[in-house]
Amino acid sequence: MAPKQTLIVDCDTGIDDALALLYLLGGSGVEIGAVTTVSGNTDAETAALNTLRVLELARRTDIPVSVGARSNWCGDVPLAPHVHGSDGLGNTDLPAPTTAPSPEPAAELIVRLARRNPGALRLLAIGPLTNLATALLLEPDLPELVEHVTIMGGAVRHPGNATPAAEANIHNDPEAARIVLRAGWPVTLVPLDATMGELLTEQHQRRLAERGSPTTLFTSSILDQYFDFYERDIFGERRAACHDPLAAAIAVGDVAPVLAPVVATDVDTGDGPGRGATVADVRGQYRGFPEQQGANVRVVLETERTFPDLLVDRLCGAPEPTRRAA
Ligand code: BDR
Ligand code: CA
Repeated sequence: MAPKQTLIVDCDTGIDDALALLYLLGGSGVEIGAVTTVSGNTDAETAALNTLRVLELARRTDIPVSVGARSNWCGDVPLAPHVHGSDGLGNTDLPAPTTAPSPEPAAELIVRLARRNPGALRLLAIGPLTNLATALLLEPDLPELVEHVTIMGGAVRHPGNATPAAEANIHNDPEAARIVLRAGWPVTLVPLDATMGELLTEQHQRRLAERGSPTTLFTSSILDQYFDFYERDIFGERRAACHDPLAAAIAVGDVAPVLAPVVATDVDTGDGPGRGATVADVRGQYRGFPEQQGANVRVVLETERTFPDLLVDRLCGAPEPTRRAA
């Protein structure tokens, strides 16, 4: 019998990280073996506490949460309270969790679970890639032990959001991202090209509020802060991108990308204006992306742009249309 698939979510919880976790816990059918945290939207400890809060809301305090890298390979990560609120969860000030993070460091936990379930572990990274790179250094055979890695990060044919060229998760630790992309394991990258087309609106927020469950009231209220940021700094309107939830849905096969070529992809680790940019060879775009030498990453360039409805259905516990295969 094939071993049961287990997913580790590595995140920097974070408004959209919280949405991704609640989406996965709302009925994806996948077993979440652990959640590991990294500094990004907030520091790694706060991200772990936020994750525990979210798991408590979903009544899944059985899932271990482990704290990972506090700083990236080049120093401290600039946190993002202007995007996610001073508590990382939209200033919702949820009470302190009743459970505590596991004492095992994140990278060690990833390696231990991979060794325990060879070939049956999937990784979903929705924060900077520091923990995954550290795990690769601890266990050089990790690529053979892990079935698949899905990463929310990068900007290929789309401008960056941390700098003109770089997306935040990659920009917060370009050296780690380079190690992860070059590791020789199957990687799906879900960049801004896809996530900036999947937009939550005030209509979605209203549906969540009207459903009135603890989870939907929470998700509706964290969207206030997210919409404030997107209105002020990005769109001039109250709507927001589904970065991490979209990556989660792709990782578990709920969303099939419309365009996702496998192409040679690397990260700019220089000191110039391109630092942290994902450089993917999409020159074949006019010829249907013919097979390419050195192709190492499946890059999701387009999705159907209907995912926010599925996300809200899932959070509301509504029956969903038939699932599409990956
Ligand atoms: C990514 O950066 C973080 O702010 C979000 O949680 C997401 O993972 C988007 O660039
Ligand atoms: Ca994130």
